Amino acid sequence: MTSVVRPDAEGLRRAVEILRADSVVAFPTETVYGLGANAFSEKAVGEIYRLKQRPSWNPLIVHVADVAAARSLSDEWPDLADDLAARFWPGPLTLVVRRAARLPGIGAANDTVAVRVPAHPVALDLLRASGLPLAAPSANRSESISPTTAGHVLRSLPDVPLVLDGGVCSWGIESTVLDLTGDVPRLLRPGALGLRVLRDAIGTITLPDAETVDGAARPSPGMSRRHYAPRAEVILCKDVRDLDRSGLAEPIGVLAYEGSEGTEILSADPREYAADLYAALHRLDDAGVATILVQEPPQTEDWLAVRDRLSRAAA
Ligand code: TXA
Ligand code: MG
Repeated sequence: MTSVVRPDAEGLRRAVEILRADSVVAFPTETVYGLGANAFSEKAVGEIYRLKQRPSWNPLIVHVADVAAARSLSDEWPDLADDLAARFWPGPLTLVVRRAARLPGIGAANDTVAVRVPAHPVALDLLRASGLPLAAPSANRSESISPTTAGHVLRSLPDVPLVLDGGVCSWGIESTVLDLTGDVPRLLRPGALGLRVLRDAIGTITLPDAETVDGAARPSPGMSRRHYAPRAEVILCKDVRDLDRSGLAEPIGVLAYEGSEGTEILSADPREYAADLYAALHRLDDAGVATILVQEPPQTEDWLAVRDRLSRAAA
């Protein structure tokens, strides 16, 4: 049974006690809720994989309180990581660097580690109070919709011992994952931090190759095609009004953005849309729809992270 608690001194004390006992705690970040465990404990990390039913090859992001803690998890901390950390941490940017030998390998990406400093006061309080680096994927069953509220966590993972309730996550979409182990920084997962801002900061970035994303050579193991998926079947439409609905399972829900009609109307601004996307998918699932028609957002780079999540939900 799960306890959902306020992130006050008593809540944090209980969370730290659980983490020190090699178990797991769900906590809010500015992106989505994470399911955290001591990154140094193989037992605790194993508990994350078990509860999420996550395939063992898919590695986890390690959360730390500051840059010094991040550096200590890597044998080869690039100068570029310092530049990026200075600009964007705490914040929704995850950096993949060479892993320090003292940190156990997580998943298949065995010689590297993904690390970030989250910009949420509760996440930072928990990191500081526990004094541990916390491995934390999104706090949902593997392949299902990511959680942006404590309620979402509870429904997806009813066996998590403790959820720190920090309200609604402000970004509502996962961090951007950038691989710094090659000559040119490579985007592994589009996310909250936009490409334009990243390019302005560091110049050229290699984008994911659509061909390799689904194959054995996929650069970020977690980028399997089906992900972020509600129970309902998701269909992406160029124009929902034109779609022939005969033969589709009912009831049908429509996820649109301002300017068109639908069951859920999200903002026409990509950041605001992203912030409400998972919550809208959760609401449509709760409403019991069997099919979700999604009005495709524009093909511009500002919508990259949203289009990535939508196409995976539809895969
Ligand atoms: O916003 C976020 O990033 C949230 C919050 C909780 O911080 N976490 C999150 O974790 O989205 P998760 O596990 O759902 O996604 C982690 C992504 C996956 O695509 C995984 O394959 C990739 O990061 N990843 C983790 N470690 C990696 C590594 N060493 N090399 C390449 N990709 C890695
Ligand atoms: Mg996830």
